[in-house]
Amino acid sequence: MARRKIIAGNWKMNMTPSQAVELCATLKDLVVNDAVDVVYCVPAIDIVPVAEAIKGTNVKLGAENFYIEDKGAFTGEISAPMLKEAGVEYIIIGHSERRDIFGENDILINAKVKKAFAAGLKPILCCGESLALRKAGTYKEWIARQIKWDLTDVTADQVKELVIAYEPIWAIGTGETATADQAQEVCKMIREVIAEMYDVATAEAVRIQYGGSMNASNAAELLSKDDIDGGLIGGAALKPDFGKIVNYK
Ligand code: 13P
Repeated sequence: MARRKIIAGNWKMNMTPSQAVELCATLKDLVVNDAVDVVYCVPAIDIVPVAEAIKGTNVKLGAENFYIEDKGAFTGEISAPMLKEAGVEYIIIGHSERRDIFGENDILINAKVKKAFAAGLKPILCCGESLALRKAGTYKEWIARQIKWDLTDVTADQVKELVIAYEPIWAIGTGETATADQAQEVCKMIREVIAEMYDVATAEAVRIQYGGSMNASNAAELLSKDDIDGGLIGGAALKPDFGKIVNYK
């Protein structure tokens, strides 16, 4: 089955509202590609101005974080219904920065995946290993375990709408990209885990991205691999280079 590619920018904690609007204007004509889903996952404060700035374009809106309750006494948090009303379609869940810096564990991440689906948001579920696990050779077991935990009680129909981002932590923001073969090896393994948990049709439908120092020069090779259906891009999503990634061929 031909899966539609999905190229998403994860802006992380970058871009004030005015800078965000300016970036949207800079990228507007560069990110046009009818064959690819293009998503900007932006900081909470940029959601409303970016929703306005991308109106009438091919770009879809994503958020970087939310909390699992709809409303109430959760100081500093933002809810799925708030994101939904603002026009958000995709939501990043389980990024290694949230896991490592903010202590999010797989129980919370699983609850977020289920809540996102219930609220009509499409999760971009991140997984990936540290350099220590890569060196120890146990990275595949680790990632398989993350996927199983994070998708507990998630249905096959939901997984068909899911995006999984494989992001080796050692490749994030370091300039060190996994080779296309290393990325393909893990993305294929993730698809096999989904086939084992659900069925082959579900595994064939789920879209799996690579993320970690993806840029205009390495995107084409990574995206040529059978099991790599897109990219989750940090640093290079903040520059005109993002347009080159979207138009990788
Ligand atoms: P970089 O592209 O800056 O390495 O970041 C990758 C990432 O973490 C995307 O979520």
